[in-house]
Amino acid sequence: MVLDRTAPKVRAICCIGAGYVGGPTCSVIAQRCPHIKVTIVDVNPVRIAAWNSDTLPVFEPGLDEVVKECRGRNLFFSTDIDDAIREADLIFVSVNTPTKKSGVGAGYAADLHYVEASTRRIASVSDAPKIIVEKSTVPCRTASSMRVILEANSRPGLRFDILSNPEFLAEGTAIRDLSAPDRVLIGSLSTPEGKAAARALAAVYENWVPPEKIFTTGLWSSELSKLAANALLAQRISSINAMAAICEATGADVDEVAHACGLDARIGPKFLKASVGFGGSCFQKDILNLVYLSDSLGLPQVAAYWKQVITMNEYSKARFAQKVVQTLFSTITNKKIAVLGFAFKKDTGDTRETAAISLCKDFRSENALVSIYDPKVPEAQIWLDLTEPGVVDDGQKVKQQVTIAASAIEACKDAEAVVIATEWDEFRTLDWATVYKSMKKPAFVFDGRSIVDAAALRKIGFQVHSVGKGPEIQDPVWA
Ligand code: NAD
Ligand code: UGA
Repeated sequence: MVLDRTAPKVRAICCIGAGYVGGPTCSVIAQRCPHIKVTIVDVNPVRIAAWNSDTLPVFEPGLDEVVKECRGRNLFFSTDIDDAIREADLIFVSVNTPTKKSGVGAGYAADLHYVEASTRRIASVSDAPKIIVEKSTVPCRTASSMRVILEANSRPGLRFDILSNPEFLAEGTAIRDLSAPDRVLIGSLSTPEGKAAARALAAVYENWVPPEKIFTTGLWSSELSKLAANALLAQRISSINAMAAICEATGADVDEVAHACGLDARIGPKFLKASVGFGGSCFQKDILNLVYLSDSLGLPQVAAYWKQVITMNEYSKARFAQKVVQTLFSTITNKKIAVLGFAFKKDTGDTRETAAISLCKDFRSENALVSIYDPKVPEAQIWLDLTEPGVVDDGQKVKQQVTIAASAIEACKDAEAVVIATEWDEFRTLDWATVYKSMKKPAFVFDGRSIVDAAALRKIGFQVHSVGKGPEIQDPVWA
């Protein structure tokens, strides 16, 4: 994007929402724009205290260094939301937009009440013009609702420009993604004011992002592009996981199939790694949101098409758990199953919608004894994820069936089977010979990420089942 030097200049930024997106994104902006004051605010004082401490609330490789460099210089974390809004020329709204749990659209629609609360707050405290940026992932046309709320609740005549600037970072690589993004997308109205606001935001990014990577669209295209990008990424994973099921039934190897397909430049190699199923806070929520949007627009066939991506993901998780039960002679009652990895992917401590939760639930329902190890997820988070306080389960019952281990070796001791749920690098290089010696026999490994050297493990004595690897590869003797 070519910059127009007449665009309003951004001197102070407020980011509402100090979560996985707001925190890293605005910390990188502070690092790359030392001339801009960046204040990240949140209603959660515990989270803000953590951002101001030596133990940040979010684990991301490289994040500590960025925060240390800028905090107290031009980067601030605060609960004083009103002050930060007043001081800012530009406000990122980076609050959570989870799937609604009740009411109209429950189970599908995005819960926009955090976005609305932030918008009302901006309207009520602002005493000067602001550029408001949707950073949260929102349904198409949310900017229009924000405008109505702003105009109805602010000083008459006060100018607000609303932009859409969806975030495409992935957890675990957030700092790399933010430092060298594939693209920065800015959606605006096509009025001169809308375009000027877009240019002001583009100027912030131009401090480190090459101009050709910053591009502008209309507001609605920008909002929809974010949902579309996540749907397309998740669709690839469900597609390769569907192939994995065929591979296991036929003797094909899903990694070979993915490689062969990915060599076609039109398909490309990325996001074709078969797995126990995708997790994370966004893929499922954003597709459900897209399904709801399609249905509300009278497009049930479109809704059904995208819904299938989620159905296939649920199937992948359930199929994997069933395989464990069937292979262990159709019963895992009182058998110890070691679950290695609890985060939804490596290099993050985030467990939202992680496949490990579904697996542990399935193993518990078969009366197994589950031992969990994850290098980054705090123990308290695992207990929280395995219980639903006040809903169906009590912590006591879970603790009779589940233990949390301090190392992978400890988790695997006396286990009948090891289940790899997250692709942490340390599981590739684990001392598998020691693990084997400490396990009950026959010792099984179920590799839900296809990361271990199955041939080497078989040499040690393990029976190995890797997702998407057919029977010849699983067990050459009986093929
Ligand atoms: P999060 O839950 O980690 O953080 C959201 C924060 O907003 C919380 O700390 C919450 O306390 C705060 N908040 C809520 N309402 C508030 C209010 N009225 N005032 C001040 N603070 C408020 O969520 P997240 O993972 O950072 O996601 C935020 C948005 O970004 C979502 O829409 C998500 O879809 C999108 N997104 C997330 C990722 C990701 O990797 N997590 C990537 C791209 C986009
Ligand atoms: C994803 C997108 O990649 C980001 O672009 C987007 O900004 C973000 O969602 C969001 O909107 O929240 P994230 O969920 O952090 O990022 O991580 P991914 O790398 O996409 O992985 C998601 C899940 O898919 C993980 O469980 C991962 O293990 C799984 N996955 C990924 C596979 O099973 N196979 C693959 O080939 C790739």
